[in-house]
Amino acid sequence: MQYQFLESDELFTRVKTMTNAAKQAAATAQKQAKKEDKLFGDVEKPINVPPLPAGFKVEVPQFDVSKRLNKLPRSWDLPQELYKKHLPKYNVGTIYRIQELLNAGEGYIGQTVTVAGWARTVRDQKNLCFIELNDGTSFGGLQIVVEDKIDNFGLIAKANTGFSLKVTGNIVKSPAKGQLIEMLVSDPTKHEVVILGQADPEEYPMAKGFQKPETLRQKAHLRPRGNFFSAVTRIRNNLAYSTHVFFQNNGCLYIHTPIITGSDCEGAGEMFRISTIFDNDIKKIPQVNGKVDTAQDFFKKEVNLTVSGQLQVENFCISMSNVYTFGPTFRAEKAHTHRHLAEFWMIEPEFAFADLFDNMEAAEGYVKFCINYILQNNMDDLQFLDQRVKPGLINYLKDIVSKDFIRCSYTQGIDILLNAQKAGAKFENSDIKWGMDLNSEHERFIAEKVFQRPVFLYDYPKEIKAFYMKVTDDGKCVRAMDMLIPQVGELIGGSQREERYDVLAQRIKECGLNLEDYGPYMDLRKYGTVPHCGFGLGFERLVMMVTGVENIRDVIPFPRYHGSAEF
Ligand code: 4AD
Ligand code: MG
Repeated sequence: MQYQFLESDELFTRVKTMTNAAKQAAATAQKQAKKEDKLFGDVEKPINVPPLPAGFKVEVPQFDVSKRLNKLPRSWDLPQELYKKHLPKYNVGTIYRIQELLNAGEGYIGQTVTVAGWARTVRDQKNLCFIELNDGTSFGGLQIVVEDKIDNFGLIAKANTGFSLKVTGNIVKSPAKGQLIEMLVSDPTKHEVVILGQADPEEYPMAKGFQKPETLRQKAHLRPRGNFFSAVTRIRNNLAYSTHVFFQNNGCLYIHTPIITGSDCEGAGEMFRISTIFDNDIKKIPQVNGKVDTAQDFFKKEVNLTVSGQLQVENFCISMSNVYTFGPTFRAEKAHTHRHLAEFWMIEPEFAFADLFDNMEAAEGYVKFCINYILQNNMDDLQFLDQRVKPGLINYLKDIVSKDFIRCSYTQGIDILLNAQKAGAKFENSDIKWGMDLNSEHERFIAEKVFQRPVFLYDYPKEIKAFYMKVTDDGKCVRAMDMLIPQVGELIGGSQREERYDVLAQRIKECGLNLEDYGPYMDLRKYGTVPHCGFGLGFERLVMMVTGVENIRDVIPFPRYHGSAEF
């Protein structure tokens, strides 16, 4: 079963099911609202990626290794033993994790252990009661068989989905199919079932079977109790873990860059202002000449939540070589798409003495490592998602890791699009020309249809990219790269940084920014400047790709987006 996130997205549905009267009222209200203040009716339509025109072929672009700063091809592959998760040996308290018991094969047979978790199902069969207990550590739960010799058998048999239980019993070989072991609770002198908490089946929101992700989103506090969100959460956790394994084992230091900052890295002005002087009573806000007197604010100046840790992580790169940051990132984008959040997590490595092509090597190695890691450690979760969320997910992931990613310049990309258009491809935005910012349909056409694998587009026109990117020799482009993924779109944005003082100063001015605001950043170019590069990977987009989930709001515990900061 494949569900359509966009069609069923709650905002989309709300718009579709509005009565005419409501529509009129909404239209009037919308007109009154500020032009850019769109709250509903603007969930992005599913992207239409045109099919490949018949007979349309493109040669795989070759890139000249000799043009690289580090001419030897470098492998970012890590040794096989790092691909396997080392299971935790220690526990908090005396409760065994169900994951540990299931993974041990027959290892625990004959032992009396205690587990705890939440009942997924309870079946009462006269003198036996079967409980499937799940503690979130693994996709599958532990089957528990309680015999009526146990004191509180009557109460246990009346338990329901959602009850929290602590159970002590004997691990035995399971006579049932599909599971190696189960727990037998049969000896009243040694075994017990403690009901820790009840859940009224009439009210418990997670009592029903499969629920749509957008329904679950309304119950974000309870959704990890179900198969869907717990699978996503375990994968998300392992993607974070494998991120650290990858960078730590490739000699990168983890730098904690600040959340509160006075600079705007991307220059897009999409920042959340933070302040302690704002008050509901406007009269209490200190003012000077009709403006907020920021000198009286906590930091005595205007500060915001960070949109990227790049500028600060670069500082450490120009002292400590290879570094990375992995933290929350905030963008006040009023986008209601399936791939934008106002609060998301970003991984930003920065490599010294390296150029754009080294950057691509690292990015390709990193993404492949993470996917391989999940393929090796989360197969149960992937199988569920493959069945219920995105058919073909496992093959899609295996396909991505088995192929070399393409390196294709922006200029070559534009040529491909123009030729495809001539051959009959129909794009919604058909005004394709050099210098344009590509739309998602164009990016996905190149990755999904033309090359059928991830593609790095690089060397973009400087007018459409940020100030800090290195200008190419012809002065027209910057050494930027985007990693485009079939069915996902942009996963990574990165670049080689401009390390030449004068060129950077010129770019800052060209971009209408204040050179004085970038003093420390300019110092890095003044004292011992080095060529360096880095990228930013949107962590939720990675989780979307690996889980096959189409809406970004369903891969983060508590999504924040325009108009919504619930839970
Ligand atoms: O392309 P972006 O804006 O690049 C930067 O921020 C650079 N400073 C990175 C660097 O070079 N160190 O963002 C990087 C990635 C995007 O490719 C996308 O995956 C993700 O961050 N991203 C978002 N993810 C969710 N919601 C949003 N609103 C996002 N905006 C960007
Ligand atoms: Mg980008």
